[in-house]
Amino acid sequence: MNDYFGYAGKTVVVTGAASGMGRALTEILVDLGANVYALDRVEPPVPGIARSIIANLGERASIDAAFAEIPTDIDAFFGVAGISGVHNSFLDTLTVNFIANKYVTDTYLVDRVAQGGSISFVTSNGGLRWETPAVREELVPFVRGGDWDELVRIASEFEAEFGTIPGSLGYILSKRALNLWAAEQVSPLADLRKIRINAVLPAMTVSGMLPEFAEMKGGQDKVEAEVGPAGRLAESVDMARVLAFLGSDLAGYVSGVHLSVDYGMNSLELAGLAPDRLSWTLRGVLSRQSA
Ligand SMILES: NC(=O)c1ccc[n+]([C@@H]2O[C@H](COP(=O)([O-])OP(=O)(O)OC[C@H]3O[C@@H](n4cnc5c(N)ncnc54)[C@H](O)[C@@H]3O)[C@@H](O)[C@H]2O)c1
Repeated sequence: MNDYFGYAGKTVVVTGAASGMGRALTEILVDLGANVYALDRVEPPVPGIARSIIANLGERASIDAAFAEIPTDIDAFFGVAGISGVHNSFLDTLTVNFIANKYVTDTYLVDRVAQGGSISFVTSNGGLRWETPAVREELVPFVRGGDWDELVRIASEFEAEFGTIPGSLGYILSKRALNLWAAEQVSPLADLRKIRINAVLPAMTVSGMLPEFAEMKGGQDKVEAEVGPAGRLAESVDMARVLAFLGSDLAGYVSGVHLSVDYGMNSLELAGLAPDRLSWTLRGVLSRQSA
């Protein structure tokens, strides 16, 4: 039988491997024969991983310590970990979901991902419309910001304009910024070593994070009322399967894709068949709130 995915014997790193999508992905990758380096705040309960690395993506020193334990040649990197922002500050949410992923890529992945390798991030359907001019303009300072300290400064200054910004809005900003930033990395990474970069944008998914989204929306029934044509919430493994594909040899000509795994809900909005819920800027929302 052919190994179409091409993961057998490959070195793969998964963040957020202890729960939800990251855990489901880690199980698939182990099954496909990859040597999985699993990074999370807590021990991933997946048998067969090459190594578990406990780290906090909210702290630069912890990321640096983690990468001291990760091989210098990586075939596929999956940045899955994230926080909802529901019980997190604006800055913490932006740090874990965006700044950490940018830092990891700029500092480690550009040197370590092998020729023809792949980088895949989990962003969110909540990060849609990143490409519309008004939204993109708001994101530019974040994606062009340089190192960790500068990004923290940019985020803190943005928040200071409005007093305190809820972490849930930080979530939207972080996912939009990661989508735009990933798009901007397509050419540099192709020029470097033909490294592909893609994003998976999940709809509401059964995972460790779902209760926090349900709390924000006013209950699990509200979440379940918005499932769209699928008729059910997504399961973590639905996202894991798509991630496994995007990072694999099967997707060898796929880079710069923002794949909404939502059973067509974004398509319905784009086609004008469902109301557009996402073409707003944070500045617009926050200015109206403070007026
Ligand atoms: N569940 C959803 O409805 C949904 C929808 C859209 C996008 N997402 C995104 O999917 C990704 C995976 O989340 P999930 O739904 O599987 O949730 P989850 O809570 O089940 O898993 C997230 C994992 O990330 C880890 N993590 C969180 N903060 C960390 C940190 N600072 N350092 C190290 N590890 C950390 C957690 O320990 C956990 O294992 C996230 O990026 C999330 O934003 C989720």
